[in-house]
Amino acid sequence: MGRYVAAQSDGEFDVNVDARGLIVAPGFVDLHCHLREPGFEDKETIATGAMAAVSGGFTTICCMPNTLPTLDRGTDIEFVQNAGRRAGRARVIPLGTVTQNQAGLELSDMSEMADAGAIGFSDDGRPVWDARLMRFALELSRRHGRPVVDHCEDPRLAQGGVVNEGRISDLLGLKGQPTSAEEVMVARDIQLARLTGGRLHVAHLSTQGSVALLRAAKRDGLPITAEVTPHHLTMTEEWVLGSENDGARCLYDTRTKVNPPLRTEADRLSLVEALAEGLIDAIATDHAPHRSIDKDCTYNEAAFGISGFETALGSLMKLVESGQLTLPDLVRRLTSEPCRVFGLPYGTLAPGASGDVVIFDPGASWKVASARFFSRGKNTPLDGQTLRGQVRATLVQGNVVYDSTAAERP
Ligand code: DOR
Repeated sequence: MGRYVAAQSDGEFDVNVDARGLIVAPGFVDLHCHLREPGFEDKETIATGAMAAVSGGFTTICCMPNTLPTLDRGTDIEFVQNAGRRAGRARVIPLGTVTQNQAGLELSDMSEMADAGAIGFSDDGRPVWDARLMRFALELSRRHGRPVVDHCEDPRLAQGGVVNEGRISDLLGLKGQPTSAEEVMVARDIQLARLTGGRLHVAHLSTQGSVALLRAAKRDGLPITAEVTPHHLTMTEEWVLGSENDGARCLYDTRTKVNPPLRTEADRLSLVEALAEGLIDAIATDHAPHRSIDKDCTYNEAAFGISGFETALGSLMKLVESGQLTLPDLVRRLTSEPCRVFGLPYGTLAPGASGDVVIFDPGASWKVASARFFSRGKNTPLDGQTLRGQVRATLVQGNVVYDSTAAERP
């Protein structure tokens, strides 16, 4: 029995976990997920999301405010924090909206929400399309010190687009979103960050052009950070064509519908490269659970989003196996780096740290069975696929919150 001891400044937890042959790392930290509560509890609740998170190795998760109602006030932030504490799994840290109701018309009271503990601000799911409001939001970020996280998408250029614009949109007759829909907004935001000196974090970067813009901005010394999702690192627009199933190909696989859309292999490779060199700061899941009826429909009607907590490690290990990313770099981009981006005191195993730990087997193969996800969102194009890399145990604050041998799955 390997003995694992989590030491804390206010005491020492003594936890025995058999970790022989396994990797012991700081618990993963996710800067971007959707927990759907309040308002969409049939997609996910804070409790089911936090359980799904720890089963995927995440010990701290930052959730987006595109709930119903949206998280606009200090009391909304406290509601999510309290539900997260009650769930007692991953640490749940909410972001607040940039604009009231995410309507893009008036700024939310970001200072009030920052005081309540909002870690950042975002209208994610949609961009802050009004450049003047984005300017004010970035100016305010200097005062409260929390980043503005923008979903970079020009709404008019992207309008009606359900996949990447290019070969696959032509082939399937689906309306595409051009890469420039993302890039013009990344460029705008960089210029506004330059103007204001504010803290900009770019959500789910997905194109080669965005990588180039980020590179230039960082070269200029701007305090800009960016994240990329496991699906944009490991999948391409080809996945929309579905996979071979009993000899038949399932075209229009709605489980691949995600915003921003899956892009080309050239985009994917540039994202992987940018992550490996540290230009893209962190990996964030954009865990976006939906009901089956939100996906069991036409591609045009389907909701955008992939349920990501429970496949993140397994899919990312493909990059390690193919030599595109080292295991220490992968762990860094899931732990210390996201913590640096949002100024969180986690993501480390240093003495006196929080005792948030993931123990995983990098070589263990398992078959994705979304019906058995802890998440209510079974929407993943990885269903039925075999992945390598499996979480064995997760500890938060020195307590075992997930043990693969004991946990009862749905
Ligand atoms: O695919 C997505 N789903 N992208 C987003 O930006 C929002 C998210 C959601 O809320 O479902």
